[in-house]
Amino acid sequence: MDFISKNPANLSEIVAKTSGSTSAQIISALERAKSAQRKWAAIPAPARGRVIANVGRLVEKNKENLSKLVTKEMGKVFKEALGEVQEVIDTCDFFLGEGRRLYGQTVPSEMPNKNLFTYRMPVGSVFIITAGNFPAAVPSWYLVPALLAGNSVVWKPSEFTPAVAQALTKLFHAGGIPEDLLITVVADGATTFEAMESGLAKGLINKIGFTGSTEVGRRIGAKAGEYVQSACLELGGKNPMVVMPDANLDLALDGALFAGFGTAGQRCTSLGTLWLHESIHDEFLARYSKIVESAKVGDPFADVLYGPMISEKYLENHLKHLEMIQSHHKVSGSTSTGRITKSNPRAGFVGDPESGVFAHPVIVSGLKFEDELYRTETFGPLVTVGKFKNLDEALDLSNGHGYGLSSAIYTRDPENVWRFREGISAGMVSVNNSTSGAEAHLPFGGNGKSGNGSRQSGIWVLDQFTRWQSMNWDWSNKLQKAQMDTVELAHNPDFKI
Ligand code: UN1
Repeated sequence: MDFISKNPANLSEIVAKTSGSTSAQIISALERAKSAQRKWAAIPAPARGRVIANVGRLVEKNKENLSKLVTKEMGKVFKEALGEVQEVIDTCDFFLGEGRRLYGQTVPSEMPNKNLFTYRMPVGSVFIITAGNFPAAVPSWYLVPALLAGNSVVWKPSEFTPAVAQALTKLFHAGGIPEDLLITVVADGATTFEAMESGLAKGLINKIGFTGSTEVGRRIGAKAGEYVQSACLELGGKNPMVVMPDANLDLALDGALFAGFGTAGQRCTSLGTLWLHESIHDEFLARYSKIVESAKVGDPFADVLYGPMISEKYLENHLKHLEMIQSHHKVSGSTSTGRITKSNPRAGFVGDPESGVFAHPVIVSGLKFEDELYRTETFGPLVTVGKFKNLDEALDLSNGHGYGLSSAIYTRDPENVWRFREGISAGMVSVNNSTSGAEAHLPFGGNGKSGNGSRQSGIWVLDQFTRWQSMNWDWSNKLQKAQMDTVELAHNPDFKI
């Protein structure tokens, strides 16, 4: 099966035709990667770090072109694409130095003349499956630390962004990553799952990394569990933004605009529900509706808030979510909903809406706990809005759907901040900042339906791609038995002053 990726802002433009891999071809890639891994792991980590440094510098040199490709193939606005590629560079910059650390510990022994140590060992060969919304940055969060730590990688990118994947793979190879150590395969979901299952059965996969929907993540996690593995899962979100009455409302409006509609709402970290305190609800909603109504949508190379959906499939999903709007909801944000066309126009649209897959921004207010939209990740330009009376209620509403990826609170009161941080179930908390836009060296990941507790980025992701090995070295020249041949010092347990 061949994959044709089209420019979602101009569907007549084919960005890449890529031949897909069969399950057997993915297995053979997994075999090649598995046999290349030992040699790579034997290279001193600082030398591997130098390779990551080379990759980072090459991505930097190619930043403009790679970003253009991201915008062309995936549709995010060019400024965001530049940010995404910068995130790849930042990840390389962080991990190039990790090659000189990858610290283990020296640990005191309970017996004399004996030394204890810990080492980080690569897990082996890893299988990475990523989504189309961040075709470069999110893959780099897996690839860079996995390779640095001495693993080999087979990467299955989104079938909607194969050209970015090929370009990024070539940059890794040009930077000195051996070809068999990072192999990129393009396949549909069913083929990928089949290959993953037999790869696990044949012992060719030691770790799976997956970014995508909760539904698929659950299946991948279950399959990994059958083979006594835990996958690194970065799944969906229904990210809350809570606006307290004392908040700087202008700032909160900026944050809600970017988090809700930047990237056409197609980030894992995009704003799900805007929770507004009842005292500011009406005013804030009116102002929010107004700025969303006048925001520019269209050509992602122009100065717009957002461009097209990633593909027709993403638009179809968005249309399904619109069917969840009920009679007690109020809709604002545009003159219409659904696909933007000549007969369903958006005021101020930049470019020709008919040439791509563009959608109207949608604000759905009057959200209630019982609503399907309350517990559905909508992954598109749709923000739900609800009201709360106090912070406890805002926390219950923010947590009640079981997702827990990103979250935000806008307030000037430190007490609200601390109570929110403690009470929110999300893995990531923003204070007076948007739910989107995590920096590349803080732990990224979620809880509940958003993930199984695994974290990416920074030093924390090393726990996904290495395993601790403990070593004890007894140089006493006699068998000292732990817990038995230990030193006991005399003391007086009955002593009183
Ligand atoms: C994602 O949507 O999967 O925090 C990743 C952000 C970006 C990464 C999002 N740095 O919005």
